[in-house]
Amino acid sequence: MGLHRKNHEPLNILLIGSGGREHAIAWKLSQSQIPHCLYVAPGNGGMAPLVEMVDIQPTNFPAIKTFVLDKNIQMVLVGPEDPLVKGIRDFFLQDPALNHVAVIGPSKTGAMLEGSKDFAKQFMIRHGIPTARYQTFCKDSFQEALRFLNSLQPPYVLKADGLAAGKGVLICPTLQEASANLHDLLIERRFEASSDKVVIEEYLVGIELSVFVLTDGLSWLLLPEAKDYKRVGERDTGPNTGGMGSISPVPFADETFMAKVKERIIEPTIRGIRQDRLDYSGFIFFGLMNVKGDPFVIEYNVRLGDPEAESILPRIDADLLELLIATAEKKLDLQTITFKPDWCTSVFLVSGGYPGPFQKGKSITHIHDIPGSILFHAGTKIASDGSLVTNGGRVISVTSLGKTLQEALGHSIENAERIEFEGKYFRKDLGQDLIQLL
Ligand code: AMP
Ligand code: GLY
Repeated sequence: MGLHRKNHEPLNILLIGSGGREHAIAWKLSQSQIPHCLYVAPGNGGMAPLVEMVDIQPTNFPAIKTFVLDKNIQMVLVGPEDPLVKGIRDFFLQDPALNHVAVIGPSKTGAMLEGSKDFAKQFMIRHGIPTARYQTFCKDSFQEALRFLNSLQPPYVLKADGLAAGKGVLICPTLQEASANLHDLLIERRFEASSDKVVIEEYLVGIELSVFVLTDGLSWLLLPEAKDYKRVGERDTGPNTGGMGSISPVPFADETFMAKVKERIIEPTIRGIRQDRLDYSGFIFFGLMNVKGDPFVIEYNVRLGDPEAESILPRIDADLLELLIATAEKKLDLQTITFKPDWCTSVFLVSGGYPGPFQKGKSITHIHDIPGSILFHAGTKIASDGSLVTNGGRVISVTSLGKTLQEALGHSIENAERIEFEGKYFRKDLGQDLIQLL
């Protein structure tokens, strides 16, 4: 799966996905010096000026095939995990009509690093990568699972093995709650096949951060790190969301800490991918916990994070398309990357009620006068009358760069105030925890 392109002819790229992450990727690619033509399937209401949108869902592989052949697409860049876990790379490789197309994203087996918690834990143990102590159980070992829970200290961490739309991790404060949830997952099959296996693990106390690399399966490039704010309420209260915003860089990810991350986590992961012969190309997202200065892996994801992409891509001082071409050609070792020293903040405007029930179709106004910010759309669409309306829980990321964290945050908050739609909500306290660390 190399990259077949003729010199001087624009490279035809299909980006798969529809969120703020994909808008940020499209924005970054639009700055490339390499002539290209970018299509996005299915995209969202904010991407239209940058790209051509295609009404195809990310896991509709036959429709993707038809489009790729029709438009002579040479590179497919996969944003979300679903198509990867369902094997889009394998689908392309196994089809003689498609196997000349470069797919940026791991194979189905590689994507199990995200698609199966048990697979990921076994990988980490096999390759000596620091992670929480754990055991995996199924319906037949329910009694043993209860005994293992008993041997741990609260709170208890239960993880459905498979993908569960971000709801598969349960942190239970009491043994009683943990046992009831375990029953619900394994015996009642709350997430169907996704919870036929459950990982139970030790709770790690620390501060989380998200670290990213781009890899061609042989070498890797470190991208900027970020902190993601998951809870809907200020001071990290209330239910989890898809992400209320993110900030890059992370002050405690200093040279000493990042040296440990590289040595103990990134290097052994890439070595493990090689040893296990995983066909891996694309991004790796390390969800890490900083436990008193030592990094532990909470989870792997096989893609960029959302909302992290919205604060890391603006800090990358490199031509993203050049890096992706090098990834496809397995020549990433020849590339370098530098980061802008600026801070980048992404503050998400969300629909009132989110992550519970919320209304869609609200008219969005005042989005053109936003000095100092870039807007990455997530849940927006163009209505039949041509106006921009809300179309999801997370609506728009107000992203800003600044010489200081306070300056970047100032722009994001000011512009978040300016943009209007009925029911708009955003967190005004993002980054306050990090300011205390400065
Ligand atoms: P996700 O896998 O993204 O749904 O997120 C699960 C969240 O649960 C993580 O972001 C952590 O905040 C938390 N978490 C998962 N595993 C552990 C653990 N072993 N110790 C402490 N917190 C955890
Ligand atoms: N920010 C978490 C994720 O993308 O899964």
